Amino acid sequence: MLTAVIEPGGDLSTLLYVLSFSLFIVGIKQGTSPTTAKRGNMIAAVGMAIAVVTTLLLDGIGNWGVIIGGLLVGGAVGVVASIRVQMTEMPQMVALYNGVGGGAVALISWSEFRHGVGGDFPLEEFIPILFAAVIGSISFWGSNIAFAKLQDLIPTKPLAVPGQQVINAVLLVAIVGICVYLGINHGDDPSQGLFILVLVLAALLGNLVVLPIGGADMPVVISLLNAATGLSAAAAGFSLDNVALIVAGTIVGSSGTILTMEMATAMNRSVPNILFAGFGGAPAGGAGGSGEERPHRSVTAQDAAISLAYADSVVIVPGYGLAVAQAQHAVKEMADELEKRGVEVRYAIHPVAGRMPGHMNVLLAEADVPYEKLVEMEEINPDMPRTSVAVVIGANDVTNPAAENDPDSPIAGMPIIEVANAQQVIVIKRSLSPGFAGIDNDLFYLEKTAMLFDDAKKAAQEIASEVTKL
Ligand code: TAP
Repeated sequence: MLTAVIEPGGDLSTLLYVLSFSLFIVGIKQGTSPTTAKRGNMIAAVGMAIAVVTTLLLDGIGNWGVIIGGLLVGGAVGVVASIRVQMTEMPQMVALYNGVGGGAVALISWSEFRHGVGGDFPLEEFIPILFAAVIGSISFWGSNIAFAKLQDLIPTKPLAVPGQQVINAVLLVAIVGICVYLGINHGDDPSQGLFILVLVLAALLGNLVVLPIGGADMPVVISLLNAATGLSAAAAGFSLDNVALIVAGTIVGSSGTILTMEMATAMNRSVPNILFAGFGGAPAGGAGGSGEERPHRSVTAQDAAISLAYADSVVIVPGYGLAVAQAQHAVKEMADELEKRGVEVRYAIHPVAGRMPGHMNVLLAEADVPYEKLVEMEEINPDMPRTSVAVVIGANDVTNPAAENDPDSPIAGMPIIEVANAQQVIVIKRSLSPGFAGIDNDLFYLEKTAMLFDDAKKAAQEIASEVTKL
């Protein structure tokens, strides 16, 4: 039997917690650059290990059998998932992990509530418990719906019932009302039945808020729920008097909020629009859903190889389709062949290309594309007129000139990679179908644009092999 050695709230536990969250902050700081991100992740993981071990050694920690069992099961699931889950499945994995965090906070709150029932329950502990229970439950259920949508377990399109907003408002008022009632009566043995009712109503709200949001908007929703989970964990930290939980929860809450705002800004949407507009469902088939095919020029891999091989500078614009096709290695091989011939090759990175923050950076890093070849949108755009060929691979919305030219477009105002300013454009995708925003792309019909209709990986492989023959 292990004996606890650290006094809760004592100097040693405080010192270890300060060390652990200092490591979180250093880890996050290093995560801001692709060159240091891996190390940052390791540093933050060490910080988390110190926080976990410190907490386990606190005086008063109970049932070691359950704790070790939980660590083994959780650790095994985490290791298997990290090995097995594909890069394209990362958003749903994050949703699931986030949901588990929210669920854990809700359960801890319930346990704390039960400990306090019948005893002396100070209001300053009771309010954070209620807050953590409500937000944790919303986050758990909302994240599970997000996971189910991204994993295609339920339809990804927005699912709304009539009067949805009214039902949500009624649920919210009921939750707040019961919490206020419980708060007022916190000293007189508050009802556990009412507390469970709050958890159930919050669960319903979590489901109903996320169901009407389209699958493609899920990354923003997950980020928002992640921020909510952080705040609920911080609240739980207040009631447990655990400084590490307060700090870690606040970091998650604030970074999740910043990420949500950044993603919304890069899509030129507001967070309320994402939450309530029912946008972001599976796009309609065909070019913009009009059913009519506009004139365009289509080329073969061999034609594309000739244009690229004799170019001075090439800018590759990766998008969601590159991730779907898992074309990163093939694209790197294609770029290597071009570079062997003296062509300058760079990659233009749009902040919301793909379906999760940093999606393209992660994919290209996996294929060992040097970081210095990845150029941010603001930096590459002024270079477009001197670019011989811009190759758009599985990207669509992030290159759509309608964002700049058509004030009525759903993506009006979204910053784009201005490939239309390059001397020549090659677009590699399977058809004229729209991307996430469900709208046609005028880029495909420009005189300077050549469409190469194929799977991104197959096309890149064919171009690479054709270049070697030239
Ligand atoms: P999209 O506009 O979604 O276009 C992706 C294109 O990839 C599709 O038009 C599709 O055309 C093509 N594609 C699919 N599978 C392919 C394959 N195997 N081979 C080749 N092409 C394939 O992608 P984007 O330009 O990256 O823009 C991202 C969009 O997602 C933006 O609208 C953004 O606002 C939104 N969004 C992004 C995020 C983040 S954080 N990244 C979060 C939420 C939403 P075909 O079917 O014709 O092949």
